[in-house]
Amino acid sequence: MRLDIISIFPEYFAPLDVSLIGKARERGTLDVRLHQLREWAHDVHKTVDDTPYGGGPGMVMKPEVWGEAIDTVAEGGSPRLIVPTPSGRPFDQELAQELAQEPWLLFACGRYEGIDSRVMAEYSSRMRVDEVSIGDYVLAGGEVAVLVMVEAVGRLLPGVLGNAQSAVDDSFAPGSMQNLVEGPVYTKPPVWRGHEVPAVLLSGHHGKVARWRRDEAIRRTVRNRPELAAALDPETLDKHDRKLLEELAFRLQPEDVAN
Ligand code: ADE
Repeated sequence: MRLDIISIFPEYFAPLDVSLIGKARERGTLDVRLHQLREWAHDVHKTVDDTPYGGGPGMVMKPEVWGEAIDTVAEGGSPRLIVPTPSGRPFDQELAQELAQEPWLLFACGRYEGIDSRVMAEYSSRMRVDEVSIGDYVLAGGEVAVLVMVEAVGRLLPGVLGNAQSAVDDSFAPGSMQNLVEGPVYTKPPVWRGHEVPAVLLSGHHGKVARWRRDEAIRRTVRNRPELAAALDPETLDKHDRKLLEELAFRLQPEDVAN
């Protein structure tokens, strides 16, 4: 997969040299190219922003600079353009899976109050453009959001994770544990500072281990993510699941139970 990132702080992306993503780059699975936006600013100060039309605080990134940058980086092709912004569509595991299918992504990192909206309008006729938010909080710029997205997408590429099952078992991955977060995990030693590993995990009984893991996933989902628990599809729940939810005094939405 080819990944281009345009930013006024390309040095923000040093973490992409290490760990899983760094190895994927060394192997050529991921071809990451960083670009300094200011290279396409032509005045002596390399200005990339200006005051907003209509007034208001902050600065807006100039369309001419972004236009030249994207024209150059995307020359000869049409990458999917991703623009991180707190007003974008939510980034989730489903979008990560979708982006992992793309051959070429171009991330345009805005700073200040964002990029002049005509830039997104201009490229929408030539390539797929998505404005994407990684969560309901405001960062100082899109760079950290792009790091988050690149890591989430990169680990889904074939051969990036050592164990392909890891991605299948993820919280939020499509499949049997859909809409449940993962439960707790343990490794050796069996007792640490008086805390014991749950006995069932040492039993070697695969059926009981799987049941226990599912129970713990349900408990944690109810405790930490009640909105996910409320949206559980009754079709995906067995009798044991329902009984546990009952014990946890958690009722499914009445309209779900009705059918
Ligand atoms: N830029 C600033 N805040 C952001 C967020 N929450 N998601 C994506 N890009 C951003």
